[in-house]
Amino acid sequence: MHARIAGVGGHLPGTPVSNDDLVRRGVDTTDAWIAARTGIRARHLAAPGDTASSLALEASRRALEAAGIKAAELDLIIVATTTPDVIFPSTACLLQGRLGNVGAMAFDVQAVCSGFLTALAIAGNFIRAGSHRKALVVGAEVFSRLLDWQDRATCVLFGDGAGAVVLEAADSPGILAAAAHADGSQHGILCVPGQISGGRVGGDPFLRMDGRAVFRFAVRVLADVANECCAAAGVPVSAIDWLIPHQANIRIIAATAEKLGLPMDKVVVTVDHHGNTSAASVPLALDAAVRDGRVRRGQKILLEGVGAGVAWGAVLLQF
Ligand code: UT7
Repeated sequence: MHARIAGVGGHLPGTPVSNDDLVRRGVDTTDAWIAARTGIRARHLAAPGDTASSLALEASRRALEAAGIKAAELDLIIVATTTPDVIFPSTACLLQGRLGNVGAMAFDVQAVCSGFLTALAIAGNFIRAGSHRKALVVGAEVFSRLLDWQDRATCVLFGDGAGAVVLEAADSPGILAAAAHADGSQHGILCVPGQISGGRVGGDPFLRMDGRAVFRFAVRVLADVANECCAAAGVPVSAIDWLIPHQANIRIIAATAEKLGLPMDKVVVTVDHHGNTSAASVPLALDAAVRDGRVRRGQKILLEGVGAGVAWGAVLLQF
């Protein structure tokens, strides 16, 4: 039994907010700085009524339509998010209600920017074990809700969005290999340290990051986990048709591709359009490349990402 992607969908809320728009909104930055340091040109910001589940709903509908599968047929729904609608119930259950599915197993995965890869690996294992046949796997984030707009080193980097895939049991591959790791000793380099207790938010409720430490960590582990995943599947890195990395920073993406010996024309880059959308970034980039015809059936695709935790992972699949 294999677990194969049957359909992909994505959703970005509202209209793009350019780097110059941020300057006009009072952020002490420039388009030149953001573009040179990160490759980001624009991001999408959720409207006040948007939530992770409302963005997930749009992406999921598109993925289900692309797969030709009805929501009622799903027997597993996993949402990777760090910005759930509410503390509980899970965003996956809220999405399930919005989709009108009753009965599927539904739960969230909290692994921040590598959450979609973790969720995809979990869903793939359920399908290959034979317990489930049709899974919806979503990365959905409203990261703008966590941003301190006075902190120019972080607020220019992130955006909102959702991406989804439908994974189904199939006779042919499929997910070929997955690898995931974490190093909790590094939890302080990227975090939102606040907590809710006694009816109040305690501590600092905004995203805080040691950008240079995250950058160094990311470049080191992304090449390693890509090699690990390819070795597990017996697929040489040179046989990969597309690398679809977490879309955080073009310099991290380019450095990883260089370490792997992959030319940039085999790398899908969408960070310029939507900035870092955390768990949504990999499925959003996959959706863009499927819809514009770059990613085609039968090709070998390596998805990978790294983020807070620090947690990182990769999934190698035949599309
Ligand atoms: O999912 C993982 C999420 N995290 C990441 O991917 C982040 C990884 N790290 C990075 O992408 C980079 O470290 C950043 C893009 C965040 C920062 O780039 P950097 O080259 O490491 O810059 P820096 O933080 O060392 O700051 C360099 C300068 C500083 O000025 P001084 O002290 O040299 O005068 C900052 O104050 O750039 C200044 N700066 C800015 N200037 C204009 C920081 N943010 C901005 C800004 N606009 N938005």
